[in-house]
Amino acid sequence: MKQIKAVIQPEKLSDVRDALEKTGCYRGAMITDIMGQGTQKGITQAWRGEKYQMDLIPKVSIDLVVRDEDVDAVKKVIMDSARTGEIGDGKIFVYNVEEVVRIRTGETGDDAV
Ligand SMILES: Nc1ncnc2c1ncn2[C@@H]1O[C@H](COP(=O)(O)OP(=O)(O)OP(=O)(O)O)[C@@H](O)[C@H]1O
Ligand SMILES: [Mg+2]
Repeated sequence: MKQIKAVIQPEKLSDVRDALEKTGCYRGAMITDIMGQGTQKGITQAWRGEKYQMDLIPKVSIDLVVRDEDVDAVKKVIMDSARTGEIGDGKIFVYNVEEVVRIRTGETGDDAV
């Protein structure tokens, strides 16, 4: 099992969720509002003639735990639904997951995902 963390533009969340729910391998998600910084280290904005630096930009993090065989499909769905081609579109991180337990039934592993 793998955990897929996609950090995306907040305005893309509903498109990404709709696209994920259409795939057969969607089991659930954890959604978190975060502040982040990528390679551009934030943005410079002008306000009333003054320039100021915003170091941290609001993003949304979507965490999904999926079966190994579904990782490529889920990555592709996120890529296709979150991408505008502009800087700041986000990133996808993939982690190994040791174990999953469904508390109600005691099922573990792939059965519990
Ligand atoms: N190496 C990293 N480690 C941890 N978080 C990261 C990393 N790179 C990006 N992020 C997170 O992802 C968010 C979006 O990153 P972003 O899309 O700006 O990446 P980028 O590498 O700068 O690509 P781009 O050039 O397309 O902007 C960041 O705000 C941050 O939360
Ligand atoms: Mg960036």
